[in-house]
Amino acid sequence: MEFIIADSAEDMSRRAADHIADWVCADPACVLGLATGTTPIGLYAELVADCAAGKLSFADVTTFNLDEYRGLAPEHDQSYRYFMKQHLFDKVDIDQARTHVPEGANPDADAVCAAYEEAIEAAGGIDLQLLGLGPNGHIGFNEPEDTFPKTTHCVDLTESTIQANSRLFDCIDDVPRQAYTMGIGTIMAARSILMVVEGAHKADIVKRAFFGPVTPQVPASILQFHPDVTVIVDPEAGKLCR
Ligand code: F6R
Repeated sequence: MEFIIADSAEDMSRRAADHIADWVCADPACVLGLATGTTPIGLYAELVADCAAGKLSFADVTTFNLDEYRGLAPEHDQSYRYFMKQHLFDKVDIDQARTHVPEGANPDADAVCAAYEEAIEAAGGIDLQLLGLGPNGHIGFNEPEDTFPKTTHCVDLTESTIQANSRLFDCIDDVPRQAYTMGIGTIMAARSILMVVEGAHKADIVKRAFFGPVTPQVPASILQFHPDVTVIVDPEAGKLCR
């Protein structure tokens, strides 16, 4: 594992964007796994700028997002498809037909999850998976529990995740209670992993995830067993790991 404490949140975003750009330049038809949330917004802006400057092209890239709320249509402004369009897909030269987000509007969880795994396999698997870190150690929507869930599945969101996400909705009652998410097995099957983390409120979980015991109670801790992981944190998130 490469663990990098960046000089600032901006530096974290720039380094992470460079990491992704290196993959795309080396293999223009690579398969990227993508994340939503506050943390990657800065790095997506960097990638958009690189693309506008002609340094990078997403024309042949295929993407798979980690997760999507169950029950939200792609047009809903809090859906993860909407987020991705807003921050990346509509601003770069990507072929939208190559972008994949679990089908939140389809209530048939078994069908949605099986189709997602099949699509990832048909694309040849994920080359580089981008991840953020939840305050409770979740990755995707894989919450702390007794085992590591393997494949894409439907989850009941924990109270802490509902609370954390409620800032993005008009009121807490509007936050969906379920989501479709890649499993830990899906994430661990990616050839390479890039995680970005920012903020003092994540300092403790960063330490536990990357320097503590591997346990499904801290889902991100499994990444310690992945052969190719880069973690880039801002100084606040990394302050207990110096
Ligand atoms: C989002 C996702 C989540 C977030 C995590 C951190 O697709 O998979 O696991 O990465 O909740 O979110 P932020 O960056 O908002 O703190």
